[in-house]
Amino acid sequence: MAKPTYILMAAISAAIFMGGCGDGPSASQSLASKANTPAPVKTPVKAAVTSAKFSPYVDAQGNISRPTDFLTGRQWTHLGAWAVVNENGEGNGMHNVYTTHDVVKAYRDTGKFPDGAVLVKEVRGASATTLTTGRAHWPAENAVWFVSVKDATNRFPDNPLWGHGWGWALFEAGAPAKQVAKDYKADCLSCHVPVKDTDWIYAHAYPVLNED
Ligand code: HEC
Repeated sequence: MAKPTYILMAAISAAIFMGGCGDGPSASQSLASKANTPAPVKTPVKAAVTSAKFSPYVDAQGNISRPTDFLTGRQWTHLGAWAVVNENGEGNGMHNVYTTHDVVKAYRDTGKFPDGAVLVKEVRGASATTLTTGRAHWPAENAVWFVSVKDATNRFPDNPLWGHGWGWALFEAGAPAKQVAKDYKADCLSCHVPVKDTDWIYAHAYPVLNED
């Protein structure tokens, strides 16, 4: 059975045990003291409920949805940027990568992406012109979004979009809510082999993770 389901069931039964029968903590406590066992502690219920919801972007089957507020949401931050040029040196694509502030903090503290970390790579075309700074490129129309969700506990072993410590997803501008990757081993993994030693992420390119 998938782990989130297990945790969810534990949370539900804990919630029922804590108050669902209508007799409340005092009744439980007097029952407990009669039986000479410690009274149940209240705080684990909240912890269990929180961990049952692994990620707001992942459902119980491991289907990944695209975060829609990563450009403007307060919890989001810019992780880094790539400019990809063609053989003439002109911009082919502008890749901007986003994550949440808590992920940056955890990575800086531990050197690892924390469980549940979400990374969004937004790929756009490039507009270009000659400015006072030189040949300048800036992001044009949206093309695709790559979304990776860190999974430290192998939650979805039977789902072909999960493995090697991550959930892997792809969304296209034509239908941005529709996840289109089929199998991360075919659709994603080989291109990330050069960075397998940094948990399959091009982490060296993001100064905010590594520099003071
Ligand atoms: C053609 C090769 C290629 C494929 C296929 C590919 N990636 Fe990547 N990915 C890269 C490269 C190279 C970078 C960093 C440089 C860049 O964006 O130009 C990157 C960066 C990323 C990033 C930003 C974080 C990081 O690793 O630096 C995410 C998120 C990401 N990819 C997710 C995915 C997912 C999910 C898939 C499959 C649906 C996928 N990628 C498929 C080559 C690829």
